[in-house]
Amino acid sequence: MRGRVALVTGAGRGLGRAIASELSRHGARMVLTARTAREIRATARALERKGGQALAHPCDVRDSRQVAELLAASVARFRNLDILVNNAGVFRMAPLQKTDETMWDDILDTNLKGTYLVTRAALPQLERRKGQIVNILSTAARIVFPDNSAYCASKWGLLGFTNALRDELRPRGIRVSAVLPGAVDTPIWDEVPGHWERDTMLRPDAVARAVAHVCTQVGSASTDEILLTPARRA
Ligand SMILES: NC(=O)c1ccc[n+]([C@@H]2O[C@H](COP(=O)([O-])OP(=O)(O)OC[C@H]3O[C@@H](n4cnc5c(N)ncnc54)[C@H](OP(=O)(O)O)[C@@H]3O)[C@@H](O)[C@H]2O)c1
Repeated sequence: MRGRVALVTGAGRGLGRAIASELSRHGARMVLTARTAREIRATARALERKGGQALAHPCDVRDSRQVAELLAASVARFRNLDILVNNAGVFRMAPLQKTDETMWDDILDTNLKGTYLVTRAALPQLERRKGQIVNILSTAARIVFPDNSAYCASKWGLLGFTNALRDELRPRGIRVSAVLPGAVDTPIWDEVPGHWERDTMLRPDAVARAVAHVCTQVGSASTDEILLTPARRA
């Protein structure tokens, strides 16, 4: 991966931070984004301390203008873009009656529309480099959970988007992969009401290694999908 440039959304904490760290460890130059500048700058500093190169550029993936500025900043710093990891996402649990329109829009606009906006903006760069797109979905893109209708809708929608895009971009030499993790111990769970057995969840670095595997694949193969579940049962 040395010399390649990778953009990771949601890189301020949790999975995105672990993915950025893993791709940087493999030699990729990193573009890191999320809304909270302080967190992506902290990720960038951590990578730089280990000899990596990183640009931290704040962006709300729901906003097409900010997404365009992100891609412009990325090109200005590193010229090329080889890898896009669409990881930014939000998770809220609520029965439908308590899923108000703001919550619905927040989940769908971040998890689904955000991926569409960043992918569309990055496509000209990725096409030039015959690049790689990795979308972070969830087991909630395959199975359903009660009190999760908005989140499941966003991830099932994202699976449809990912699969359709793979077929669209395959002739243009761009690989599109879906990574579907089960529960991962990240800050996303801090605000979810209830008791969660966090020590039996996947660790973020396990998902990050799967993303790196997808991105280091060479030759004739493309990894279409990786489903990761915790090795230990709660
Ligand atoms: N943790 C799990 O159990 C689990 C399981 C399966 C799949 N996933 C998926 O993995 C991805 C990462 O989740 P995580 O657990 O690492 O969550 P997290 O710890 O809450 O981190 C989410 C990241 O996404 C960013 N983000 C949220 N909204 C954004 C927006 N509108 N624009 C730009 N960045 C935004 C956050 O930063 P800001 O808030 O600063 O913007 C943060 O950096 C999500 O897509 C999630 O659905 C998680």
